[in-house]
Amino acid sequence: MIALRTASHQVRRSLGAIKPVIHSRSQTTRAFSRTLRRSDTRAGQSSRFRSASYFNSRSGVIFASFAIASAYLFHEQPAVQCEAPEVPSLQQQRLISYDEVQKHVTKDDCWVIINGLVYDMTEFLEAHPGGPNAIIQQAGKDASSKFQLLHPPDAIGTLPPEYCLGAIDPETIPAPEAIELTEDEVRQAEAREEMPQAADMLLVQDFENWAERVLSTTAWAYYRSASDEEATFHDNRDAWRRYFFRPRILRGDMSQGSTTTTFLGMPTSMPIFIAPAAMAKLGHPLGEVNLTKAAGTSGIVQAISANASCGLEDMFNARVEGQPLIFQIYLNKDRSASSALIQRVTRLGASAIILTVDVCWQSKRTLDVRAKLGEKNDMPAPPSPTATTAGEKGKSVSEAISGYQDTNLTWSDIAFVKKHTHLPIIIKGVQSVEDVQLCVEYGAQGVILSNHGGRQADYAPAPIDVLYELRELRPDLFSKIDVMVDGGVRSGADVVKALALGAKAVGVGRPILYANGTHGEEGVERVLQIFQEEIRNTMRNIGAKNIEDLKPELVGPMGPWVGRNRPSYAPASSPI
Ligand code: HEM
Ligand SMILES: Cc1cc2nc3c(=O)[nH]c(=O)nc-3n(C[C@H](O)[C@H](O)[C@H](O)COP(=O)(O)O)c2cc1C
Repeated sequence: MIALRTASHQVRRSLGAIKPVIHSRSQTTRAFSRTLRRSDTRAGQSSRFRSASYFNSRSGVIFASFAIASAYLFHEQPAVQCEAPEVPSLQQQRLISYDEVQKHVTKDDCWVIINGLVYDMTEFLEAHPGGPNAIIQQAGKDASSKFQLLHPPDAIGTLPPEYCLGAIDPETIPAPEAIELTEDEVRQAEAREEMPQAADMLLVQDFENWAERVLSTTAWAYYRSASDEEATFHDNRDAWRRYFFRPRILRGDMSQGSTTTTFLGMPTSMPIFIAPAAMAKLGHPLGEVNLTKAAGTSGIVQAISANASCGLEDMFNARVEGQPLIFQIYLNKDRSASSALIQRVTRLGASAIILTVDVCWQSKRTLDVRAKLGEKNDMPAPPSPTATTAGEKGKSVSEAISGYQDTNLTWSDIAFVKKHTHLPIIIKGVQSVEDVQLCVEYGAQGVILSNHGGRQADYAPAPIDVLYELRELRPDLFSKIDVMVDGGVRSGADVVKALALGAKAVGVGRPILYANGTHGEEGVERVLQIFQEEIRNTMRNIGAKNIEDLKPELVGPMGPWVGRNRPSYAPASSPI
């Protein structure tokens, strides 16, 4: 840790750059008075989470913890208890001095301040999905900014009401004479000083390069991480480079034409959608709401992750009129939680449901695990070569957010999802031609050829290769189901290749998270603009004015199309 005086130039620069991370006294006081003034009609509703906390036995405590965790993960709207009562509860009327809070800073007696209220978190430590240390490190402190960075606003309301001890007495909070920045925060702040504006980013890759420099170690590790040796992660990118165009010439006025199209009946300004990816707040405090707004401005579809860090209503309310959103789910071990969630997003106005099926088992996300171990990427491997966890030091982000997912999934689960919604079902994580056929047979309307961005089975094939196999072996399936693809898409040319081979749209994962992390909503808009320009340029230079003009014969394996390298769909060459 480095202690810095606020008076120094260094800290003023840093404060400007990492505003969301640092909480001033006046912010805390404003949050406090807001909390006391706000009224909420839901406050009086009964809550199964509240009743769960009445159990005194050990099993009761465990049940309460599970309910809290799953409420967070599914963003159910629990009755708001501590945060926004209609009439302040007796506990909240109690004013607690800052000095008093400082007396409870151990793992056996752990108080924190969040949004102007004081919570006794001792009982919750072991149940905290982010691990006990995340909270213990905040003991005695105002944890509001840390909390808001990582959690949807309704998460705090899922705590049992008795955890809320009262309000912090604003008069007793010490003035922020000195602010301690961690080395990681100083590094981020300095890098942000040098970072170009969003408009000056030229390639999609530029956002990734800057994200590595300006994101927190935790955020970068979670976003960038992939499984094991990362063979699939790297091949996802390399594979796109193995496909080249066969541009056609002299096809008329290329100043006309459009990138607009539809997939699963949804209109889009270009054949790109935001792939569902968790925890956007790790990169930017406004999280997925930035993505929703940028998708609205850019006229594309956003797929919301089941593990999004913003509240569902916040994202749906951020839509522009008519903006389609699709929602991704993992099936919960408790199927009733899944059916409730499917029905809830259907009611909210989702346009389709993505069922992700490639997380059959928690993989080892190498960088994420290393980050939790506090090791640098170039350090020796974790203690056990088979370790999938960060052991005693707490769970990696991936592990922390995936505990509820069912590992027992079968083809009949497609029928389960269909039973609870009239919306189209898209199966995400399809990695073979055979399984595309089965998705058709089991009644899915769409598939996403995906290996989760190389985060699940290492050595799974690159999605563009599976798409090519599908084109060669079962071209009939393209008319039976909408085929989408994601993984390693980093340029407009990649998108055009997929479309020419028969995909209806292409998902983009990390580039969106990176752009959100570097420049927020503006960054996401810019990265989408780069994609759109490149798609348009590529299309026009290979002889395609509109999406309908993209045909398989415009793309194929790199190298001369002779012998075994010649695609079956290549046009018969005319005599010279
Ligand atoms: C109300 C229920 C809560 C739930 C369901 C929850 C869930 C989570 C999850 C899933 C993570 C991500 C895992 C990780 O980053 O390691 C996390 C991280 C974190 N949580 Fe919570 N949390 C809750 C309450 C709190 C509270 C009250 C605090 C107050 C201090 C807190 C502080 C943190 C911090 C500091 C992290 C970051 C950990 C890190 O960077 O290593 N959480 N939480
Ligand atoms: C940080 C991160 C979180 C992700 N979270 C989810 C998720 O919650 N649900 C899901 O179906 N896929 C998730 N994915 C996978 C993406 O939807 C997508 O398949 C993948 O990112 C595509 O690869 P790309 O990142 O190279 O574009 C996640 C990917 C990343 C990088």
